[in-house]
Amino acid sequence: MKYNVVIPAAGMGKRMGIGTNKLRISLQDKPIIAYTLNVFENDPWCSSIVLVVNEQDRDFMEELVRSYKFMKVKAIVKGGRERQESVYEGLKRIKEECIVLVHDGARPFVRIEHIQKLVQVTSEKSAAILAVPVKDTIKRAKDGIVQETFDRSELWSIQTPQAFKLSLLKEAYEKAEMDGFTGTDDASLVERIGHHVEIVEGDYNNIKITTKEDLYFAEAIIKGINEK
Ligand code: CTP
Ligand code: MG
Repeated sequence: MKYNVVIPAAGMGKRMGIGTNKLRISLQDKPIIAYTLNVFENDPWCSSIVLVVNEQDRDFMEELVRSYKFMKVKAIVKGGRERQESVYEGLKRIKEECIVLVHDGARPFVRIEHIQKLVQVTSEKSAAILAVPVKDTIKRAKDGIVQETFDRSELWSIQTPQAFKLSLLKEAYEKAEMDGFTGTDDASLVERIGHHVEIVEGDYNNIKITTKEDLYFAEAIIKGINEK
């Protein structure tokens, strides 16, 4: 089974607070974005990668793709101010109907077996996302007062990749743009045009590196992988 992937990597990493894109940070001498690209380079099901970057990082990213010999990177595209704009720019580069994945550059530890499971489900259902069961109890609060406690057994922490039939995702993005809607993930745009989205269970190592503490978790995950 084949797919193409859009990797948004054009953020500023503000919550990391280092003044440059967090994806340039090295873990054991390798930049975070190189771990992410490596997973897809090594997945035989992946046909091509569209990497979305901001202009400040373009030289760095081009050099990285060259030096690590990421042959599947077919385009390095300029991103936008929001993640949603960046993904949309990436999607515009894929023309032929296919299964398209969207995967955060900031999630370097996704496993090929989970990607492939996701793609299999998408080939039948057109939309599927990777997720893990929520470990904490989640409550909704307003002005510091609890309003509601959710039934944890129904809650999922949503990750990427998120996978879709290309035409469906493009339709969802076009509608969102028309309505001025911004979602926090790709699937929410598809949900709002009335299409079902399947959940595929992944694993807890597929973290999004967001704040400084996540770098400790990332080092521990790499150590765990190397010891296997
Ligand atoms: N991203 C992007 N374009 C943007 C914003 C984010 O391509 N305008 C990418 C990031 O590079 C990252 C992914 O989307 O790979 C998830 O975003 P997030 O973790 O929020 O990264 P940043 O936006 O860089 O971090 P922050 O929100 O702390 O500034
Ligand atoms: Mg962000």
